[in-house]
Amino acid sequence: MGSSPIVNITDPQYAELLLSNSTHISKGVVYSFVVPWLGDGLLTSKGAKWHRQRKLLTPAFHFKILESFMPIFFEKSKLLVKLLDKEADGKTTFNIFPYITHCTLDIITETAMGIQINAMSTKNNSYVDALYGACGEISNRMATGWLRSDFIFYNTSYGKRFLQYLSTLHGTTNRVVNERKDLRKKQNSNNEQIEDEFGRRKQKAFLDILIDVSEDGTVLTNEQIREEVDTFMFEGHDTTTASISWTLFLLGLHHDVQEQVYQEINDVLQNDKPLEFNNLSDLKYLERVLKESLRMYPSVPTISRTTSADIRIDDYIIPKGSSVAMHIFDFHRNPKYFPQPTKFDPDRFLPENSKDRHPYAFIPFSAGPRNCIGQKFALMEEKIILSYILKNYKVTSTQTVDNVNPVVELILRPHEGLFVTLEKRK
Ligand code: HEM
Repeated sequence: MGSSPIVNITDPQYAELLLSNSTHISKGVVYSFVVPWLGDGLLTSKGAKWHRQRKLLTPAFHFKILESFMPIFFEKSKLLVKLLDKEADGKTTFNIFPYITHCTLDIITETAMGIQINAMSTKNNSYVDALYGACGEISNRMATGWLRSDFIFYNTSYGKRFLQYLSTLHGTTNRVVNERKDLRKKQNSNNEQIEDEFGRRKQKAFLDILIDVSEDGTVLTNEQIREEVDTFMFEGHDTTTASISWTLFLLGLHHDVQEQVYQEINDVLQNDKPLEFNNLSDLKYLERVLKESLRMYPSVPTISRTTSADIRIDDYIIPKGSSVAMHIFDFHRNPKYFPQPTKFDPDRFLPENSKDRHPYAFIPFSAGPRNCIGQKFALMEEKIILSYILKNYKVTSTQTVDNVNPVVELILRPHEGLFVTLEKRK
């Protein structure tokens, strides 16, 4: 890349050398483009600081906390199904991607910050616009060689726009952190519980958990809390949107698989029983479908590291300080591990078919100590949203694998969107 050499790895056995230990945890240079937004949050930090943060944040993803988010997942999924109703005449072709994005944005904003932005029900929202805008500028910068220099970038209209978006994003998160702290102080001094408009005890957001562990700024300052919340916002909506959308695309092409998923959902939710936390693990076939979709279209197709020591890969020495890109997309389509890699076959993930596979052959959430901290959250959210959609509608894709055009814009995104028709289930 210009004057900077990059080592590209496409076989998972070599990625294991980098990912399985804590030595090489410093991220590649491209991550520096998100630092003005996310600062030293969990995704971008390194060394001892990262170790400390990871230990501090791991309890926030405990299954008890995730379980407490279920009502939010349900409420947003229900609204999504309602909004999709107007498209569901079996004939209208429409792009489902923005619907899913707005739904996951509503979910992550409420679970991370405890506020409602109503991306699904309102059109103009400065926070949502700034979030899209900032992601667009970062992705454009990554793809455009001459914008990589800070000096050039910040002197162009791209860089200036980016700073405006950041000012809205940081302004919102800072305000929410401060308001939340004040509210908690007030309620604690009055011995009150935080309640919502229905008088229910309001559910703790990730932000509350961060405030709990912050010990009044001695362990985490307001700025550090802001960085972690911004990191969840960044990592936690586009990734799940892509995964849900690609899954719908593949199910819309493979109606036989979709019917099996539909059957499973009906079996688990007999007599219109509502979905519960405990039922999620019964949706085993849906889980295999999700994995196979993440195999073919991993939301994060490439990750990179800067090596902290020399590494030997077969006959080569990769010197300390090298940039190494690990192409998850290629691992997942390597015929050595996945024969006929372009074939959509969820049964690849039956236990008997996966047991002898290389442990790094399928790593949509990365692997090793720096893997995705949000993967359980993501799978839960995806299962719930997909169950709601598929229980109510039969999906048909109007694009094919050949013309859907996946592009890397921070995540693996369908360039023109994902076009489907929906037919109401009886
Ligand atoms: C399908 C959904 C998701 C996928 C495919 C995904 C994938 C990944 C991958 C590949 C990494 C490693 C990045 C790297 O090494 O540079 C990562 C890290 C991370 N993810 Fe996710 N992610 C998903 C959802 C989420 C969600 C929902 C959250 C938060 C609510 C989240 C939060 C994070 C964080 C904080 C890290 C950094 C962890 C660390 O460095 O210790 N992710 N994710």
